[in-house]
This record gives sequence, C-alpha cells and structure tokens, in this order.
Amino acid sequence: MLYSAIRKILFQFDPEKIHELTISSLKKTGATPLNHFYKQAIAAKSVEVMGIKFPNPVGLAAGLDKNGECIRAFDAMGFGFVEVGTVTPRPQPGNEKPRIFRLESANAIINRMGFNNKGVDYLVNQVRSANFTGVLGINIGKNKDTPEAKAKDDYLYCMRKVYDFASYITINISSPNTPGLRSLQYGDALNELLAALKDEQKTLQEQFHKYVPIAVKIAPDLTTAEVSDIAQCLIKNNIDGVIATNTTLSREGVENLVHGNEQGGLSGEPVKAKSTQVIKLLAAELSGKLPIIGVGGIASADDAKEKLAAGASLIQIYTGFIYQGPPLIKAIVNAL
Ligand SMILES: Cc1cc2nc3c(=O)[nH]c(=O)nc-3n(C[C@H](O)[C@H](O)[C@H](O)COP(=O)(O)O)c2cc1C
Repeated sequence: MLYSAIRKILFQFDPEKIHELTISSLKKTGATPLNHFYKQAIAAKSVEVMGIKFPNPVGLAAGLDKNGECIRAFDAMGFGFVEVGTVTPRPQPGNEKPRIFRLESANAIINRMGFNNKGVDYLVNQVRSANFTGVLGINIGKNKDTPEAKAKDDYLYCMRKVYDFASYITINISSPNTPGLRSLQYGDALNELLAALKDEQKTLQEQFHKYVPIAVKIAPDLTTAEVSDIAQCLIKNNIDGVIATNTTLSREGVENLVHGNEQGGLSGEPVKAKSTQVIKLLAAELSGKLPIIGVGGIASADDAKEKLAAGASLIQIYTGFIYQGPPLIKAIVNAL
C-alpha cells in the first residue's frame, strides 16, 4: 500500500534521478535505525545452493546496486541474497543520458546504462565497510574500452580483487550495452574464458583457503542450440552455477509503446517467458549438474514458482522490485 503511494510520486520524475536519490538514501540509512522505514521480517526458507546456505531463495539481481553501496539496506528489506555490480576494473561513466526508460503499461524497463560504475576498488571498499554477514554475489564485467581480445584479463583482474569478499562471483557476459560482450557466450571464446577463470579460482582458493563459486550470467536471446552449447561448456569447465537471464534485445509486445523502441536491454514482463524458456532448456541439458538462478520478469509469487518449476533453485528480481518495492520480496518468500 505504502510503496504504491510512494511509487506514484517517484514515477513522476526522471528514472535515473530517482535511482540516484534512492541509492543515496539507502546508502545513508541501511545500517541505521532509519532502515525501519523499509525493514521487514521475512520467514526463514533456507536453501543450500553452490555450497552456500541462503536464508531464502529471493535475491536482488545485479545492476541496481552497481557499486555495492546499499548492501545493508537490501539485506534489511529481507532479500535472501544481494548481487552487486556489474563492476569493471576501472571506473567508467557508461552511456550518455537518458539511458533508462520506464514502459509502465508493460511493467517493463529499457536500459542502456553501459556498466556505469565507480570501479572495482571502490566496490571492494564499500563491501568491506558494510560488514555484511549474509550472502553476497559480486558481478564482474569488462571496461568498454578494453578490446574484446583482452576481455579475459578484465574478468581475471576483477576476480582477484573481489574473491575474498564475495560469497559467489558472477561472470556477466550477457549485457547488451557493452559492444562485443555477448560474443563471449559462444564457442572458443567462452571455453577459453571459463577455463582461465577456473584456473584462477584454483589459485585463489589456495591463497585464501576458501572456495568461492563462479556463476555465469547469460542472455535470453539464444537459440536452443546455443543454450545447449553453453550448458555443455559450463559442465566441461566445472562452473558452479548459471544465471538466466539478462535483459532482451527483443521488442516483441512493446514496439508500439512510448520508449518501446529505445536501444538497450528490455526487462520485466516482456522478458518473462523468454527467460523461463532458457531455464527449461538449461535444466534439460544440465540434468542437475549445476544449479540455475532464475531471473527475468518475476513480479509475483506465481512468477517465482514458474521459474522454480522450470528448474531454477534460486530467483532474483529487478524490474518487479522497481514496480512493487519490498512487499514483493515478502509476498514471494511467504508463498514458497
Ligand atoms: C536498469 C538496469 C540495469 C541493469 N544492470 C545490470 C548489470 O549491471 N549487470 C547485470 O548482470 N544485469 C543487469 N541488469 C539485468 C538484471 O539484473 C536482470 O537480469 C534483468 O533485468 C531481468 O530481470 P527483471 O525482469 O527482474 O528485471 C540490469 C537491469 C536493469 C533494468
């Protein structure tokens, strides 16, 4: 009730301005008594996935807290886990504004942020000072000006920086807003990247005396054969988990809406079925060899159940959370 009233006001303003205002408020209040404005008690529904115990299976998807500034606030809201990032080795401004668009009648968002972030060192400092004891995913990517041939080095660089601070590390090769990034999802490029990351994981495990799982985040815009190739490559390289999916390039169903043809990735309701389909294909191909984290268009407990029934072990929300706020977390967890 309260969130829908607040949303009415917030949605009058520019989406990115509201985003910045929200992040700065949550950053200031997350670990203070003021968090009582959004703090919720959530029933324990613990699950073990990738060797990690999650207090509940509902996580915050990457991209909302790119710099890891509000971890304690999202924890207070009751998320079972928080994924921060995508972070890159060096800070970068991202694409020109405007770069986020609400498509309210479709319960959707189009964004072409382009990994705007303050760099991995800043994020690590934020994580360190958060003193967070819950489950934290750190999502890593490459800088825009790093040539594709050197992309691997950016992932390895970030992995070394975040290893000691993450419960799991997400390899984002599916954002549509960094030119060439999605090409890392295919063939030799994928195999070489995953092999290098697994090698590095082994070295880091010895150095830090702990095993931090690696999850790979993929796009919804893949053919059945492509999903199958990715799944086989994940198995071959002993990857620990897969996150399906990122935003879509498709504009099906939104072409005629205001902002419907903006460039970027489309999220929310229009990506829901595509994401579920990728999860189903993955589940069939992986046969439980590695777990799936389902994300894309979840806006109700039924949507969450659909992802779990398709084969996901955990779920994440972003656009649904923008539209419905913290009550959505509670509604989903209670229904599971
Ligand atoms: C504004 C915005 C920014 C995003 N930034 C990232 C990002 O930096 N890294 C990433 O892996 N996914 C990013 N995503 C994708 C989400 O994490 C999620 O995979 C996608 O939006 C589908 O879920 P949803 O329909 O619940 O939003 C972003 C999504 C939105 C809407």
